[in-house]
Amino acid sequence: MNDLSSIIEMARLAFEKALTPAELENSKALFLGKSGRITELMKGLAALPVEEKKTRGAAINVAKQGIEVALNARRQALADQELQAQLQAEALDVTLPGRQRGSGGLHPVSLTLERIESIFGSMGFEVAQGPEIESDWFNFTALNTPEDHPARSMHDTFYVEGGSAHAPNLLRTHTSPMQIRHAVQHVKKHRAAVDPAQANQGLFSGAMPEIRVIAPGRTYRVDSDATHSPMFHQCEGLWVGENISFKDLKFVFTDFCRTFFENPDLVLRFRPSFFPFTEPSAEIDIQFPSGTLAGRWLEVAGSGQVHPNVIRNMGLDPERYIGFAFGMGFDRLTMLRYGVNDLRLFFDGDLRFLSQFR
Ligand code: DAH
Repeated sequence: MNDLSSIIEMARLAFEKALTPAELENSKALFLGKSGRITELMKGLAALPVEEKKTRGAAINVAKQGIEVALNARRQALADQELQAQLQAEALDVTLPGRQRGSGGLHPVSLTLERIESIFGSMGFEVAQGPEIESDWFNFTALNTPEDHPARSMHDTFYVEGGSAHAPNLLRTHTSPMQIRHAVQHVKKHRAAVDPAQANQGLFSGAMPEIRVIAPGRTYRVDSDATHSPMFHQCEGLWVGENISFKDLKFVFTDFCRTFFENPDLVLRFRPSFFPFTEPSAEIDIQFPSGTLAGRWLEVAGSGQVHPNVIRNMGLDPERYIGFAFGMGFDRLTMLRYGVNDLRLFFDGDLRFLSQFR
């Protein structure tokens, strides 16, 4: 092997060792660069006699072409390798199952809420919402609840900052404060239309449209076990007019329960009870005619004829206005409707439980 063919061989080996295009360019410089092997050989021609210059020059050019061929071959090989690697990295396995986007659903308690709103909506009830941090006035005093009532004690109620020293603010213990809040707004609005001069003076005994409203929402008590959660949901109902009596309460609530449970044979019992804001008062029990709960009375709501003092705190004259109210816990209704026996399941956020209601 002459010196030229051994240079070609050396170049081929060097190019083979280069693993990246950058390494390959470095190796190229060793042979074809300004001070590379071939350039050096060309420079050496100057010292040769004319005849030898021709043949030697032609031979060096052949060697240079040989090196360029090897270089281009390696360039192509590296480019192919890179393309191959890229294709592999981006490979799609068309036999894999597709990734599914989970579908969401409403929480069972929200499903109940929607149902309550639609049933009462069909009976002409509006839906009102109010604050969860309440004042002593709306939660207790305006509802005719005396200073020494047990619901006012520290271990029944979550008190929060704000309000006055003897009447601190609190997390509402029931949705009943919404009776006052909603009625006061309602009276103000219609009274201003009837006698603007006396809009805020004394009790209103003029004519106005009836108050017919439900107020669902979160309520709070210091209580926690399988059937009590510190946060729970209630729905208040209020219907006040000039001739709204206990019989309307019985009709409305019976109709609601039978529709809610899709059971026309459901039996209701209005059991005499006591609440400061109603007189007379009743607790409402339901009984399923068949199924696992058949024969048991289940308490679902408190209710009664709105107390005259409460009517006054609404800004109305109790000699003209009268009505009924009720308050039901609808977590309980949800448990009964879906056969859930532990209230805490609703609030743990476990998707294995919740996804069953999708
Ligand atoms: N607020 C009562 C409670 O949480 C329930 C209640 C009873 C609401 C009688 C009413 C009612 O509107 O008239 O225990």
